[in-house]
Amino acid sequence: MKINGKHQRTVWLGQDGWSVEILDQTKLPFDVQVISLTSMEQAAKAIKDMWVRGAPLIGAVAAYGIALGMKEDASDEHLQKCYDVLIDTRPTAINLKWALDRVFAELKHKSAEDRQTIAYQLAAHIADEDVQLCESIGENGLEIIKQIASNKPEGSTVNILTHCNAGWLATVDWGTAISPIYKAHEAGIKVHVWVDETRPRNQGLLTAFELGSHGVPHTLIADNVGGHLMQHGEVDLCIVGTDRTTAKGDVCNKIGTYLKALAAHDNKVPFYVALPSPTIDWTVYDGVKEIPIEQRSGEEQSHVYGIDPSGKLSWVNTAPKGTECGNYAFDVTPAKYVTGFITERGVCEATESALSAMFADLKAPEIA
Ligand code: MRU
Repeated sequence: MKINGKHQRTVWLGQDGWSVEILDQTKLPFDVQVISLTSMEQAAKAIKDMWVRGAPLIGAVAAYGIALGMKEDASDEHLQKCYDVLIDTRPTAINLKWALDRVFAELKHKSAEDRQTIAYQLAAHIADEDVQLCESIGENGLEIIKQIASNKPEGSTVNILTHCNAGWLATVDWGTAISPIYKAHEAGIKVHVWVDETRPRNQGLLTAFELGSHGVPHTLIADNVGGHLMQHGEVDLCIVGTDRTTAKGDVCNKIGTYLKALAAHDNKVPFYVALPSPTIDWTVYDGVKEIPIEQRSGEEQSHVYGIDPSGKLSWVNTAPKGTECGNYAFDVTPAKYVTGFITERGVCEATESALSAMFADLKAPEIA
């Protein structure tokens, strides 16, 4: 999508043909800075420290991380080390494992001489494929927005609530939950987005930044506002992303998603999850019991990052000194609260049978 009118992806190959460039998302939305990754360890740090974030983007950068690793040393031992270091970066989003398993399975039977070239090709393929999946999600989700618009008085606006950032910055391009919104906006449907701030990491600011860059009307709200808006008929539908969806359709996404789903259920507001197939973990069934929930530093809770009146980027403490902080990064929304999945192949119910029918060919997981 675009920044300042210029098309941009979130990860791309540097001009030297081997370094991997990313947008530093810790600086957004205040500053647009590019970082050049030149080693596997740096790619791992980029994922762990959230220079890049969002399940699909984490997967793509991990694949490029293996490529960088193969440039350094393409031995069997180093291939295994790259896998081990990268898999350890973040525990919840399954796209990380999906991408690493895919690249590892491809490389392990190849000669050391061939591994670097194949790894770069595969990483580029994973990135391009993500763009296609996300654009297809946009087209399939557009039909839902069109349908909702057609049920409203002519010329009225479709109000959509989203949580976290599941836009193009969380993927390679287009986004998952925001892709249908971009498509609807392009199609001339009047849309307005309620953007949850998404404390503590404020991914909602990234969503606001993206939507603003594309001229999509939106309003930034505190995380607890959505229930009130739904009670007052101000939300026509919710669309969120997912970091891992289980075989029976439970959805693990950014902390706070579950509460939005409960409010949507109580107010009969459709609650859709945009789901690219690499985000399905077929090996996991009960999301609440089985998905590991990342816990991050309490500093992310006690501090906020922003621009001070002098225009300087500042990191400010908002909590009483010494306060114990809990920072749970994700929660699980049981399938029963999900109206449907918007996938690259179409829209389906959030049930085991619907997911299996839609993706029968993908069900057998690849094991590294
Ligand atoms: O901690 P983050 O910023 O990596 O979490 C991102 C999310 O939770 C997104 O909603 C999710 O990855 C789906 S995005 C396409």
